[in-house]
Amino acid sequence: MIRLSVFILFACYIVMAIEAKSLPKTNTLDQRVDSVLKLMTLDEKIGQMNLLTSDWDVTGPSINKGYLADIKSGRCGNIFNAHTVAYTRKLQEVAVKESRLGIPLLFGYDVIHGHKTIFPISLGEAASWDLEKIERSARVSAIEAAASGINWTFAPMCDISVEPRWGRVSEGAGEDPYLGSRIAEARVRGFQGKNNNLADPLTIAACVKHFAAYGAPQAGRDYNTVDMSERTFRDVYLLPYKAAVKAGAVTVMSSFNELNGVPATANKWLMKDILRKELGFKGFIVTDYTSVTELVNHGVAKDDAAAGLLSVKASIDMDMQGEAFAKYLKNQVETGQATIKMVNDAVRRILRVKFQLGLFDDPYKYCNTEREKKLIYAPEHLEAAYKVARSSMVLLKNANNTLPLHKGEKIAVIGELATSTRDLLGSWKAAGNWDFMKSILDEIKAYNGAENTLYSLGCKKMGNDRSEFEAAIEIAKGADKIVMVVGEDCDWSGEASSRTSIKIPGVQSELIERLTALNKPIVVVLMNGRPLDLSKESKLADAILETWYSGTKGGKAITDVLFGEYNPSGKLPMTFPQNVGQVPLYYYAKNTGRPIYLPNDKYKSKYIDCTNDPLYPFGFGLSYTTFSYSDITLSNNNLTNDGAIEATITVSNTGKVEGEEVVQLYIRDLIGSVTRPVKELKGFQKIALKAGESKKISFKITPDMLAFYRLDMTYGTESGDFKLFIGGNSRDVKETNFTLAK
Ligand code: BGC
Repeated sequence: MIRLSVFILFACYIVMAIEAKSLPKTNTLDQRVDSVLKLMTLDEKIGQMNLLTSDWDVTGPSINKGYLADIKSGRCGNIFNAHTVAYTRKLQEVAVKESRLGIPLLFGYDVIHGHKTIFPISLGEAASWDLEKIERSARVSAIEAAASGINWTFAPMCDISVEPRWGRVSEGAGEDPYLGSRIAEARVRGFQGKNNNLADPLTIAACVKHFAAYGAPQAGRDYNTVDMSERTFRDVYLLPYKAAVKAGAVTVMSSFNELNGVPATANKWLMKDILRKELGFKGFIVTDYTSVTELVNHGVAKDDAAAGLLSVKASIDMDMQGEAFAKYLKNQVETGQATIKMVNDAVRRILRVKFQLGLFDDPYKYCNTEREKKLIYAPEHLEAAYKVARSSMVLLKNANNTLPLHKGEKIAVIGELATSTRDLLGSWKAAGNWDFMKSILDEIKAYNGAENTLYSLGCKKMGNDRSEFEAAIEIAKGADKIVMVVGEDCDWSGEASSRTSIKIPGVQSELIERLTALNKPIVVVLMNGRPLDLSKESKLADAILETWYSGTKGGKAITDVLFGEYNPSGKLPMTFPQNVGQVPLYYYAKNTGRPIYLPNDKYKSKYIDCTNDPLYPFGFGLSYTTFSYSDITLSNNNLTNDGAIEATITVSNTGKVEGEEVVQLYIRDLIGSVTRPVKELKGFQKIALKAGESKKISFKITPDMLAFYRLDMTYGTESGDFKLFIGGNSRDVKETNFTLAK
């Protein structure tokens, strides 16, 4: 009898499993989701809420080696850090053919700035201020990832940060919420396709991370406490996440940090009230790596079980690598501590994304070997990477037109980073391969001729070894110009790479200083993932080119910029301070009650050993040409609440070569019910101008651009006087005034 009932049950399961694999396609998405959900056991449901790393490319401590068995048993519905068609197909086959219901796996991966073809690091891309190119970068990354079996990327990273000490500024778009929001949207469009058509086999699901305010750790130390006012959170930090959600991102990642005493992964206010209710997010929330069980260390849960319960109650849907749901949630549902509704809601949201991706229709839709062969490192992808790389570079100094270099000049290239291809890829290199790449030195030789290109190591990027100094100085003596490639090891940026000093490491600057004795023009080429303290180098060098970590085609892009084949057009997405003591230093600061008017005033908001000015302000970047800005004209000085006015300026290329300029619009609200920033970026346009050419540039100003969280925390505008600024960076601007009517 028992046997018979087991047999009947088993037979039912088989019928149901077949059903799940061949669901009618005519039903609505929700009906299809529910038709699977109703077949699932509690264990299988919880399995869908579990995300485990494969042992391929672990980005943190791996605690589960048995993921294959877990896929088979339905205990694990999602895998990350697995790629290539062959490998993902193997795992997908286990899920589809060997698990009871055959629910396909999601394959997540950190495709941050490229998959195989690597683009500049995200901060570098942000410096291009070129939304089309940034979208194209995400598109190409999605195409290559999708062709490699991946269907979900843990990007875009939308964390605003004013903290150069924090290693992860390299992964974001910098300090500004407006620029950050536009970039976040562009990246979502790139990953998920223009119309969020996830059914297209060359799109992948995006994941907005790290929600929320992960970019504001105290003292810039990774994973550290975040404590900020709700007003700052809403007016600044929330905006890029919001933009990405609005652009249609189907997943969000909860961050490691606490926000005002409540860790994000247990934060109902953040996840339910803000993300789901206010922002209307319909997708699923995944945690960051073991951030559920880290609630124990945070001190809000006594053990992993309690941690899981807090998370599920905060409407977290998927546990990355912590296995708190996998281990404890079943019992918590059975004993009434958690409800089955919580589980069902989470699983619905996860299955929904799997359906949207078309995985139920074809679980192997990302597993096409031909496509993989054809698309990985496709020439048009490398070309796109080259173009973004060129546009991301920021010319910080160019005294006496030291740059561009001239073909055929004798150039002494010095520094370890000049020959390193690995560093060009940055910290999130994904599946990028640096063996076949060309270094900066290779490309300079190819362009300038090996006979005109001398090389000496000089010193390493780290450490105090000066033994190669003299050899480098000797080599430099025979050159017309010196190109010194310096910066940080790529692993000094990214996760768990916070610094207390933001100076160029080791003895690299010391060598620059020694080389100045030769009285030859010195060009410093920087490779780094954060704003650096360049106060010393800015005096020693004749020219400074910030190249970030510029990706697979970085060597060529840098060479072409150095030799004037491309006129640099990047602008800083983060303020470069004079020194670390000024940090956090950002352009949208408040005026304070004691701003400085006269340099020698004592009781002012300032330092006694340094001015308040940055070394290089937000939005700053030079060109091989020069631009001039006319005065601003406004179509009307009075803006009505349902109206719009137009601000127009003429920008002229006053130099000898064609160039691109990022025309930036800033606004200041002069009197508010709460204090307002001295400037806020509200628009920008990147334009190209031939030598001698002028263009009229217009910005439409509408009241919504002036809205903020007012004294009573309602969102809206306040009538009164505003300043409007337009310029080529946040400091050097033309200005005018307008009024917002009552
Ligand atoms: C990082 C995330 C990343 C995840 C998966 C974590 O350590 O904080 O940004 O997506 O690992 O690799």
